[in-house]
Amino acid sequence: MADLQTSLASAWLPNPLATASGCAAMGRELARFFPLSDLGAVVTKSVMLAPRSGRPTPRMAETPSGMLNSIGLQGSGVDALVEHDLPWLQAAGARTIVSIAGGSIEEYALVAERVNLAPPGSVAAVEVNISCPNVEDRGLVFACDPMAAASAVHAARRALDPSVPVLAKLSPDVTDIVAIARACVGAGADGLTMINTVLGMVIDTDTLRPALAGITGGLSGPAIRPVAVRCVWQVHAALPDVPILGVGGVRTGLDALQLVLAGASAVSVGTVVFNDPTAPVRVLRELDEALDARGFDSLAQAVGYAHRGLEV
Ligand SMILES: Cc1cc2nc3c(=O)[nH]c(=O)nc-3n(C[C@H](O)[C@H](O)[C@H](O)COP(=O)(O)O)c2cc1C
Repeated sequence: MADLQTSLASAWLPNPLATASGCAAMGRELARFFPLSDLGAVVTKSVMLAPRSGRPTPRMAETPSGMLNSIGLQGSGVDALVEHDLPWLQAAGARTIVSIAGGSIEEYALVAERVNLAPPGSVAAVEVNISCPNVEDRGLVFACDPMAAASAVHAARRALDPSVPVLAKLSPDVTDIVAIARACVGAGADGLTMINTVLGMVIDTDTLRPALAGITGGLSGPAIRPVAVRCVWQVHAALPDVPILGVGGVRTGLDALQLVLAGASAVSVGTVVFNDPTAPVRVLRELDEALDARGFDSLAQAVGYAHRGLEV
């Protein structure tokens, strides 16, 4: 068995398998299937300042290779997370990465400030989801602009306890993801999570109308895995010392291994849990077997391995 320990900046994890934000709520649903302490980390659904009901329904549509969602950050807000969910996750032995979101720079700062009120030791890292529309800037998504991305990350970083590492979660819907990654690291991100969903659309050929009430939605699942591998690859090549949490279309241990070989130090699984709630522990076991079968003594040896010999 390979040594699976890993870290995302100063957050040490016993293994690299995490849930993906929004796909396992606050962890309770998955705890019925396996102990959350078996995972490297649980990434919570993104929380905002106030409770939100999300976007109108229908907000899910299937595609042949993944699903489209426009949930719109439904949730009970950061205070409920701090008061109820984080103590519960801590008691369950989970290492928790708290995902935060905001519609304005000020909201990122305020949500981050409230996260500081969490019980000591209950927050392993904070993931800053910058894939939300910036209400101050004509609805442009923060993650699509280096300056806006940096401002959101900076606001969160400054408001948080310095001992808590900050991961910026990037969108693949940009021309140059390396430029956004550099801006986030320059603004104080200790690591990066890649990727969020890919903007897509489905048209219902019976109603002759968009299938989602929100018209467009985020595509996730197997269709986006090559996009995730490409993003992790490009950013690891440019910023080899910045830890990456890889996410996008992982269904098996070999899928996870691809992200690791591209440069990810840990891997989140999302959409797959909707049809296989045991996927996080299964993917971890399969990744472990795949590392053994390829002669790796440790996960660390495999991180970024596919870049070897290709350095320019
Ligand atoms: C139903 C659903 C809800 C999601 N909610 C969030 C969210 O709240 N915050 C976030 O950063 N990403 C969210 N995501 C994106 C996932 O965390 C992940 O980045 C994406 O789905 C790609 O991984 P996957 O193909 O393994 O699902 C959501 C995805 C889905 C399918």
